[in-house]
Amino acid sequence: MPTETVYGLAADAENPAAIAKIYAAKQRPAGHPLIVHIAPGADLHYWAASVPDVAQRLANAFWPGPLTLILPRSTRVLDAVTGGQPTVGLRCPSHPVARDLLGRFAAGQPGGQGGLAAPSANLFGQVSPTRASHVRKEFPELVDHGLLILDGGPSDVGIESTIVDVSMPEGATPTLLRPGHITAAAIEAVLGMALATPQKSSPQVSGSLKAHYAPRTPLSVVPRSNLASRLAAESEKGMRVAVVLLEPTANDWSELADQILLGGTDPIRYARELYRLLRDLDNQHHDLLLFEQPPQTAAWEAVNDRLRRAAATFISQRHLDNS
Ligand code: TXA
Ligand code: MG
Repeated sequence: MPTETVYGLAADAENPAAIAKIYAAKQRPAGHPLIVHIAPGADLHYWAASVPDVAQRLANAFWPGPLTLILPRSTRVLDAVTGGQPTVGLRCPSHPVARDLLGRFAAGQPGGQGGLAAPSANLFGQVSPTRASHVRKEFPELVDHGLLILDGGPSDVGIESTIVDVSMPEGATPTLLRPGHITAAAIEAVLGMALATPQKSSPQVSGSLKAHYAPRTPLSVVPRSNLASRLAAESEKGMRVAVVLLEPTANDWSELADQILLGGTDPIRYARELYRLLRDLDNQHHDLLLFEQPPQTAAWEAVNDRLRRAAATFISQRHLDNS
């Protein structure tokens, strides 16, 4: 299913056999909860045991759109969906195909309520898909066995939804679990208060594993001032390096780099193309991807988060290789 953020691998949220197929397809460990996608106007109380005022305000402000709310679950929600936690993630996507699909799905259920549990349509830990072609490539066997891919065109946002935990007791502060296109500042403006950042005891968010959203090719994020020396050093070692800059450089790096690409200086456009770029680069047999570090500003928080995770995978792998 296309969404405005990334493509999702969707199944009836109330059908245990269908949910089991999602985990199997993604090779996702049990205990990592799934987001339930619902149509505009769906009854939140169908899924949530309670809907705090802050949750309702955020839903009113940002749905349909790239925001996921973590709420206390209703008894109806399957353990396999919540990962056994007392909460459920809900999101009402804005993509017209997703909205249409969710509306029709719910209309076909007894009582007119229903939702689709959908993680990003990629193997666990890999880069999320932003094109129908990415999904086809990720699950060739499923496609052979009749997986239906709704092609809704390239995802407009390009990175996963912002996740806010509003399941806390009355009066406590909502927590930003995953930054995204809807910024912390935009959410704080609606709530009139600052968001908390996750504590160790917060519900498990698989996207919050340090290493996640990673291409197979090692990736490193380097401040612009260090790029020239790093590139020279890697090239010296015989590494085939692709460099992704924000802006063009006056330096001639054609002898040192295999390829030089531009991500641009607009964080919204950068996010839209990031996962496509990572997938394209992964298909090109580079030994290393050197990403120029974007500005460390609020507007770039979500992009920096995804780049940090992509790079962290290789830091931890190198660690393992050496130990
Ligand atoms: O943009 C998105 O959110 C996409 C599209 C398809 O909607 N979906 C997505 O799903 O990114 P997934 O499963 O790849 O990531 C969902 C994240 C996971 O990190 C999961 O742990 C977290 O949401 N999550 C889901 N339910 C949760 C809950 N009850 N408590 C805490 N985290 C939860
Ligand atoms: Mg995912």
